[in-house]
Amino acid sequence: MQTITRLEMLRISVALLRQPGKTLALVPTMGALHDGHLTLVREAQSRADHVCVSIFVNPAQFGPNEDLDAYPRQLEADSALLSAAGVDLLWAPPVEVMYPAGFATSISVAGVAENYCGADRPGHFDGVATVVCKLFNQVRPDVACFGEKDWQQLAVIRRMARDLDLTFPEPDRIAGIATVREPDGLAMSSRNRYLSPQDRAAAATLPRAMQEAIARIEAGQEVPATLAALEDELLGAGFTSVDYAELADAGSLQRWDEPGRGAGRLLVAARIGGTRLIDNMAVRGNKA
Ligand code: PAF
Repeated sequence: MQTITRLEMLRISVALLRQPGKTLALVPTMGALHDGHLTLVREAQSRADHVCVSIFVNPAQFGPNEDLDAYPRQLEADSALLSAAGVDLLWAPPVEVMYPAGFATSISVAGVAENYCGADRPGHFDGVATVVCKLFNQVRPDVACFGEKDWQQLAVIRRMARDLDLTFPEPDRIAGIATVREPDGLAMSSRNRYLSPQDRAAAATLPRAMQEAIARIEAGQEVPATLAALEDELLGAGFTSVDYAELADAGSLQRWDEPGRGAGRLLVAARIGGTRLIDNMAVRGNKA
């Protein structure tokens, strides 16, 4: 595996990997890799001849009071994992390569970016859309793989790629990969390592309570009451606050007060011991 930190070198390496007629997949990450990321790598390998993983802790997507400085950075360990997984290229630009002096552009996606994490973390999705657009232009992948754990992020990236007529990758080659979970159901996340053993045990309430809420909604119980009960259960289990617990259309992310046509998604963000956890799960719509 080649590790690259300069744009000129990346362009040369990508050009070499892409010939003759070979395809390239990108897995964008912020490092602190876990099995969820390695699943993305395997999915990328099944979709293209070569795989590039990017590791960049993107300052533009962190708010002033968020965990940018504390965000785990472990390039050596990540690099060993990626190399063992058969990744071809590790793109790990320093901040001054991604955002050189004078950098002044930001991509802002309306609609899908506005609610849920967009409302709780102002500017977050501008930072995500901007850096992902840059990563797409830098690596020019045929395919890109993102985890469905960040469901709203995936919707924002797809919207951005369609609206800006991106061709590397074509918007329909932006793949969402199912969330990888711990044995107790907690979605894998680089932030899980912040949890104390006690909070880690309590955190498993999140996926369990979400599944229960989905079963109730699909059985016809009222959505607002079911979501209120879900919030109460999380607070009772030791979560300190619930940023949101909402049912939405899986594609448009429009809020549903009752199951609508097509696929729905239950989206939750809640805090425990200072750590903000997010999760989402599929909900069947109940109208043909
Ligand atoms: O999901 C992440 O790790 C980040 O938001 C991403 C997509 C790599 C952009 O920084």
